[in-house]
Amino acid sequence: MYNSKIIGLGKYVPDNVVTNDDLSKMMDTNDAWIQERTGIKERRWIKEGTDDTSATMGAKAAKIAIERSGLAKDDIDFIVFATLSPDYYFPGCGVQIQDLLDMGTIGALDVRNQCSGFVYAISVADQFIKTGMYKNILVIGAEYHSNGLDKSTRGRGVTVIFGDGAGACVLTREEDTTKGILSTHLHSEGKYADKLIVASPSIAHWVPEIIEAGEEDISYFPYMDGTFVFKHAVVRFSEVIMEGLAKNNLKKEDVDMLIPHQANLRIAQFIQSKFGLRDDQVFNNIMKYGNTTAASVIIALTEAWEEGKIKPGDNVVLAAFGSGFTWGSAIIKW
Ligand code: ACO
Repeated sequence: MYNSKIIGLGKYVPDNVVTNDDLSKMMDTNDAWIQERTGIKERRWIKEGTDDTSATMGAKAAKIAIERSGLAKDDIDFIVFATLSPDYYFPGCGVQIQDLLDMGTIGALDVRNQCSGFVYAISVADQFIKTGMYKNILVIGAEYHSNGLDKSTRGRGVTVIFGDGAGACVLTREEDTTKGILSTHLHSEGKYADKLIVASPSIAHWVPEIIEAGEEDISYFPYMDGTFVFKHAVVRFSEVIMEGLAKNNLKKEDVDMLIPHQANLRIAQFIQSKFGLRDDQVFNNIMKYGNTTAASVIIALTEAWEEGKIKPGDNVVLAAFGSGFTWGSAIIKW
């Protein structure tokens, strides 16, 4: 048995900054409401005419992560890609990355677990490394939300929170099992699938039916029962962090850095106060990027590392909650 550890991190966000004031020109919303309810000041949305997509942004972040890892791309054995906004219905983005980065014929797998996608993806990669099947794995989270949002007032409850972007890391084998990813914890509760959903197009609700229904059918836009999701998020976040700490005989005081999924600053602040963490023990960048779902944890982890906020030996906790419902955590000895 081995552990896995992160040896390279990278991120890519589109240049185009969309402020809350920009949104207020598209729909009935305002900067004060968005900041007060979510903490978001601005987000990045891909500008029409650029070649950015979930796959191409993911490839750009992955390239940086591989360069920083010190490995050559030919050393990578496998790709795990997390998104809720793939370029195609099928095939997944993982195989596009394999092609875009010219990575031979290594295996590639897409994880479709929305906001928890990156935590699920890193857990999948960790298991492959733990068993010895693979040595080096590229894990990516990327989202292209902006093309699929309802930019009228009807969609304001969801549209203002989402942003585009990508993050990636390289995991490698760690022989010392007291270091690296110590454990991951994954959960789901599918009975709440309809609380946060893009219902179509799907095989059950196919394109011709949507076209026929015209404007009355808005099931191709994300639907979220925000208050319901919020209430479940704060409970599940806390539970899954506690589960991870208990598994590793760690106490709240042992957490050096918590990287929560960037869903809403109020959720992160609730968790921070529940665990009695100082401001410098919780990393937030939702103010700049909004909620980039499967990319959010890895973009935040990358920025925390780039800013020197994570040091060797630190206990780093990743935690996420989102559509499914799905939620998870990862406990890392850096
Ligand atoms: N601008 C102005 N007013 C708005 C906006 C907006 N953008 N959006 C909604 N409102 C209005 C509503 O119409 C409502 O008005 P009313 O009282 O007259 O009916 C009022 O503001 C309150 O709306 P709520 O939806 O109750 O607002 P809430 O305080 O719940 O905040 C939010 C909404 C920010 C979405 C919050 O519920 C939230 O963050 N939920 C959790 C999100 C989350 O964690 N998602 C999981 C990850 S995402 C994924 O997995 C894909």
